[in-house]
Order: sequence, then structure tokens, then C-alpha cells
Amino acid sequence: MIAIYPGSFDPITFGHLDLIERGSKLFERVIVAVLRNPNKTPLFSVQKRLEQITLSVEHLPNVEVDSFDGLTVNYAQIRGASVLLRGLRAVSDFEVELQMAHTNKTLSTQIETVFLATSNEYSFLSSSVVREIARFGGSVDHLIPPHVALDIHKCYAHNKTTSNPKITEAVPPLNN
Ligand code: PNS
Repeated sequence: MIAIYPGSFDPITFGHLDLIERGSKLFERVIVAVLRNPNKTPLFSVQKRLEQITLSVEHLPNVEVDSFDGLTVNYAQIRGASVLLRGLRAVSDFEVELQMAHTNKTLSTQIETVFLATSNEYSFLSSSVVREIARFGGSVDHLIPPHVALDIHKCYAHNKTTSNPKITEAVPPLNN
């Protein structure tokens, strides 16, 4: 059975990797599929994300990395996959994910969504949390693979002074 693990992966985190590793033990093949989303301005280009993910999963022989446009169920059908794999971190995910699973079911009855509970240690982790920490100069080395951490640091390194320019300007100088 082939499973698609669709997402933005901007960037891939240890939470995603944990899910991919566990999925690769459950399914014959897992295709990590990066959505080419024209409505979002990502931190990393699709090409860069594909490189980051490919390097992160090179120890997993039954995992493939690809990108796609349009509906996930259409892509799954083209790839001969019958499962969409998604992670659930908390109740807040559940609402969104359930709606997505139900929507996908109306689009294709052939494709099932399978949820894996995120490992406890990554229950707080998301790509946006990583981007936020890195943007303000914090370390993300414990959250993402080393090569991705390098990329994200490069991304923000030249831009340190823009972390919160308005607040910096609004704070009056100390008088003593
Ligand atoms: O990593 P993300 O951003 O949570 O992934 C969301 C994703 C890519 C799985 C979802 O937005 C998606 O499947 N988009 C493709 C369009 C689609 O199929 N929409 C119908 C389901 S709501």
C-alpha cells in the first residue's frame, strides 16, 4: 500500500521526520509530497524544500520525495496511492484535519486518511514555530535537521536588525 504524506514542509521538522519514519514502517512506500501553493509566500522555495527533505530521509529506502499542484486526492490517484498520511498533535489539529479528511472523502471515496498521533516530544512543534524562533535569533538545532538549521540561519542572518524594528524605535532612551 502506498501512502502520500502531503504538506508544506516549510521547513521539515523533527516532528515531520518522526511521522515519516513511523509511516515508512507501516506502508510499502511513503511519498512525501510538497504542495506547490501559489497562495502562500514560503520561507523556502519548493526546490529547496525538496532538497532539504530528500537529505533528511536518505536513510529510508521506501520513502520518496515529490511536489504536486492542485488537489491532494488527484495527486494520490495519479501516484496509485490509497492513503493520505497526516499527523495529529493536539485537539486543535483534530478539527482542521477532520474537516480536510471529510472533504477529501467527498472528492474520492477510494482514498483513506490515516492519522498518526505525533510523538509526545514533538507535540508542540510546527514549521511556523521554527520560523518564529529562527527569525528572532533563537536556536532551532533541537527542532530540525542540521542541514535545515544551517539553511534557516543563513536566511535570517543578514536580517537580524529587522526582528522587531517598530518596538525598538518606540522605546525611549534611558535618562540616567
Ligand atoms: O503542511 P500543511 O500546510 O498543513 O498541509 C496542508 C495540505 C497541503 C495537506 C492541504 O492544504 C492540501 O491537501 N492542499 C491541497 C489542496 C486540496 O487537496 N484541498 C482539499 C482538501 S481541504
